[in-house]
Amino acid sequence: MRVGILGAGRLGVPLGRLLSMAGHDVLFSDADPARVEAATLAADGLAQGGTPLEATRYGDVVIMAVGWEAFPVVVAELGGALTGKIVVDPSNPIAERDGLSVVLAVPGGLTSPQYQQHVLGAGVRLVRTFNTKYPRELLKLGTAGQRGGSRADMPYWGDDDGAKKAVLPLIEDAGFTAIDGGGLSDAL
Ligand SMILES: NC(=O)c1ccc[n+]([C@@H]2O[C@H](COP(=O)([O-])OP(=O)(O)OC[C@H]3O[C@@H](n4cnc5c(N)ncnc54)[C@H](OP(=O)(O)O)[C@@H]3O)[C@@H](O)[C@H]2O)c1
Repeated sequence: MRVGILGAGRLGVPLGRLLSMAGHDVLFSDADPARVEAATLAADGLAQGGTPLEATRYGDVVIMAVGWEAFPVVVAELGGALTGKIVVDPSNPIAERDGLSVVLAVPGGLTSPQYQQHVLGAGVRLVRTFNTKYPRELLKLGTAGQRGGSRADMPYWGDDDGAKKAVLPLIEDAGFTAIDGGGLSDAL
């Protein structure tokens, strides 16, 4: 499967590595081209790099590995390119303020991915997953699962059954046991 990754940071890079090791065609992107270069190097030549727009157009699935507050910025920069796409949302409502992590209140009593669905637009086919592990843990557990060791559970949620079905093999191929958690209103 072709996977476009927006955000080549702490989470996007190990996730892209796991998926490229599993044989998926990964294209990293970031606001900073130097991070894209570092990400493709970390993937041992198994992944490509490009701009966020290229990654969006490339991906059968697009992973939003940018900060929670960056979602509206990405939407504005991509000018509608995400519409109709299957989009993975691993974002947690956490921001950095003066070097400290702060938990943000999600407006409207929504779950985090319900809110991000609202930000991305109704035409985006959102699946919530890969939000429950720290990046190093993700890489370690996923690599162990890919090598035939015991597999950690990876929950996923969504309101679009077709999108969930498409993302399920990515979770499994990344080395995890995919656990259907229900709809976005049920999501962590
Ligand atoms: N790290 C974790 O432990 C963890 C665990 C679970 C889920 N998550 C979630 O995963 C997401 C990514 O977290 P992270 O820790 O990987 O963050 P990160 O290390 O800051 O990486 C995010 C990357 O996205 C880039 N970016 C920001 N705005 C962009 C834009 N408009 N277009 C393209 N790239 C853009 C950032 O560039 P700049 O730095 O230049 O802004 C940065 O390189 C977050 O939503 C987070 O909640 C993280």
